[in-house]
Amino acid sequence: ALAQEALKIGLILPMTGPFASTGRQIEAAVKLYMQQNGDTVAGKKIQLIVKDDTGVADVTKRLAQELIVNDKIAVMAGFGLTPLALAPAPLATQAKVPEVVMAAATSTITEASPFIVRTSFTLPQATVPMAEWASKEGLKKVVTLVSDYGPGIDAEKAFTGAFTSKGGTVENLRVPLANPDFSPFLQKVADAKPDALFVFVPSGVGAQFMKQFVERGLDKAGIKLIGPGDVTDDDILNGMGDVALGAITTQHYSASHDSPENKAFVEAFKKANGGMRPNFMAVGGYDGMHLIYEGLKKTNGAGGQALIDAMKGLSWTSPRGPVSIDPQTRDIVQNIYVRKVERKDGELYNVEFATIPNVKDPVKAAK
Ligand code: DHB
Repeated sequence: ALAQEALKIGLILPMTGPFASTGRQIEAAVKLYMQQNGDTVAGKKIQLIVKDDTGVADVTKRLAQELIVNDKIAVMAGFGLTPLALAPAPLATQAKVPEVVMAAATSTITEASPFIVRTSFTLPQATVPMAEWASKEGLKKVVTLVSDYGPGIDAEKAFTGAFTSKGGTVENLRVPLANPDFSPFLQKVADAKPDALFVFVPSGVGAQFMKQFVERGLDKAGIKLIGPGDVTDDDILNGMGDVALGAITTQHYSASHDSPENKAFVEAFKKANGGMRPNFMAVGGYDGMHLIYEGLKKTNGAGGQALIDAMKGLSWTSPRGPVSIDPQTRDIVQNIYVRKVERKDGELYNVEFATIPNVKDPVKAAK
């Protein structure tokens, strides 16, 4: 008999450039999953092909095209930013190759192709609980400061809509995504004197933001820092220092999440990666691999339409808690946790103190 052809997974990530931390986290998590679960599924050998798109959407698209045509991949995965997830969507549809989005988080992404499925989150999903918490805490006036592209605009709209519907007032500021200088915006925040500053910056950028927050003296001005959890990303949180203490964020993953699954995940991840702490990008990659493996088991190794159909409705216990793939939207349904930055065992963590269970993307739920 002929040797069985390997089943190829193309993992396209920003491995260099300003968003390399996302690529590094996801690649490490995908490799950990394969190391723990073996590289044979449904009798087929899994071959991982990692490609660096450098964070440029035209490169993502070209790499996806080459992987589909030359390597005949069964699945493409990764996608560190919204424009990078959108670029190959027409190719996923044309070639009927499932596209597993492990990072990018603008709500509309899953609507760009019926072959897209997502294991990260959406900004509205993480943000509406923040607005509800802020309102319950009695905050009245909030300034939002977001990176000016898909996920930032999603976060701004979700927060503003939910917070003003409860009687709060909001002022919106947007900062460029590329090489952001936060200082002129932070001066506006200082002048506006809100109860809280709501911030969204993509994973990895939080450290730069925090530095300028301190330089402008905003940590001493009594302005509370709130937002979805990207700004206090576990990968960089401990390096931020005491300025981050007390920040309240809402998100689906904390490295300090208290469960046996997460303790095992964090320990194995650190051990395999020189002590690096996994962040929410890592858990998106780990769960994305789980989804691919479980889908392939159900199809007995078949790809295409059968594989995307098999992924719909799957549920499992992730390091982040219980999750499932919404069969209608192909987005992930998950708990959102309210967390506060605290020092624990000498390190800074997002310590979870409340849970909103089984949250769906609220934008699609309203359609
Ligand atoms: C996106 C990127 C991020 O790094 C993040 O934390 C959230 C969203 C995005 O581009 O979709």
